[in-house]
Amino acid sequence: MNGSAGKTALITGASAGIGEALAKQFAKNGFDLILTARREDRLNTLGAALKEKHGISYWVIPEDLADPGGPKRLFDSVQDKGLQTDVLVNNAGFSVQGVYTKTSWKDQCQLIQTMIGAVAELTHHFLPEMTARGYGRIANVASITAFLPSCPGQTLYSASKAFVVEFTETLNVEIKGTGVTATALCPGFIDSEFHKQSGVDEKVKVLPWFWWMDVDRMAELSYRATMAGKPLYVPGIYNKLMTGFVSRLPRRVAVGLVSRVARQVNIQDPAVGV
Ligand SMILES: NC(=O)c1ccc[n+]([C@@H]2O[C@H](COP(=O)([O-])OP(=O)(O)OC[C@H]3O[C@@H](n4cnc5c(N)ncnc54)[C@H](OP(=O)(O)O)[C@@H]3O)[C@@H](O)[C@H]2O)c1
Repeated sequence: MNGSAGKTALITGASAGIGEALAKQFAKNGFDLILTARREDRLNTLGAALKEKHGISYWVIPEDLADPGGPKRLFDSVQDKGLQTDVLVNNAGFSVQGVYTKTSWKDQCQLIQTMIGAVAELTHHFLPEMTARGYGRIANVASITAFLPSCPGQTLYSASKAFVVEFTETLNVEIKGTGVTATALCPGFIDSEFHKQSGVDEKVKVLPWFWWMDVDRMAELSYRATMAGKPLYVPGIYNKLMTGFVSRLPRRVAVGLVSRVARQVNIQDPAVGV
């Protein structure tokens, strides 16, 4: 239980993939859960299963974080229910497929709102009560793409993840000594609904096995890093090696290398997005 009895974790994007796997980890470790995403039925099914398995309490608050009013509505709903948030996991995200100017601005705005705006705003709303209590954990799900030059078709996706890393690391320095920590989680390729939603599911399957990581393993390692208060965490040895290697290359060489891999798996135009 790790002293988590009576503590509550709010997880965005808990209806699938990484968010769902993180919800399982927090429940396994005794946390009550506030689950949010747009698909309410899935959140209810997950919450009920975790309640039965681990005896936790859960609350479902459906919200669309691409709506500029979404983060504040979510925060207000949590307050109205009288819930305390000890852990905030900003995980919800998606990729917009296609070369930047060939995509719609509406789609790109939704990406910015969900993956930058909501992360920044939810943190802004929930952090003061955590520091006032002297305890809290914030986990922001970024990606290894934050460190890698992108292939075409991922223009704002990678930029949003670079924002998440920079934002989280800076925040973590600001809140040092308050009992609250902020962790940027940077997974590599995970088999979730993400690549299906991006329309590149079949294409990314040709990538070698060592680029992929089991979602539950990733969530377990990420849970530990978050609770330990690590500012930045790249789960998996291959992801660590890859990001370490590429970030040491001259930028021009790294851009060429990533573009070549993208060409090989034929994902240069649509966004592959990790
Ligand atoms: N899969 C990977 O390879 C990979 C690698 C590195 C980082 N990531 C990052 O990990 C996070 C989770 O991705 P995933 O792989 O778990 O993808 P996923 O399986 O597609 O799940 C995405 C989650 O985000 C939620 N979401 C999407 N748009 C939303 C919106 N407008 N409002 C509220 N919730 C929204 C979805 O819920 P609803 O549709 O029900 O709203 C879903 O729960 C993302 O930030 C992604 O960028 C993924």
